[in-house]
Amino acid sequence: MELRQKALSVRENAHAPYSNFRVGAALRTPDGHIFTGCNVENVAYPEGTCAEAGAIAAMVAAGEREIVEVYVIADSPDPVPPCGGCRQKLAEFAGADVPVTLATTQGTERRTTVGNLLPGAFGPGHMDRA
Ligand code: THU
Repeated sequence: MELRQKALSVRENAHAPYSNFRVGAALRTPDGHIFTGCNVENVAYPEGTCAEAGAIAAMVAAGEREIVEVYVIADSPDPVPPCGGCRQKLAEFAGADVPVTLATTQGTERRTTVGNLLPGAFGPGHMDRA
């Protein structure tokens, strides 16, 4: 519930004048700290950043590097799955079993995991012969 409230709250700060689609994300770390992020769009569209990326950046800036729970919320008909790039970003700091809740502002929730979102993930082991 706490993650949901923080994600909902940070979503209010989203800068989404181009898509009008505001997203909030909240991450919990092993220490119990919560970091949040919202999408920040740009007139040069590809320069925009996702809510998940903002939350991850806040976590790393605070000196933490492990995620144990993720919550993402948007005002969409169905819970919005993270984009491909954010799945890879989450996998950098979260194990495959880490729970991810995707939610709508209306109250629908879908529970999944980082591993389910990114099967066959590229990881450090794939560079062993480099
Ligand atoms: N977006 C996120 O922030 N997170 C997601 O999981 C899906 C998409 C943002 C990016 C863009 O600002 C807007 O939603 C529309 O794609």
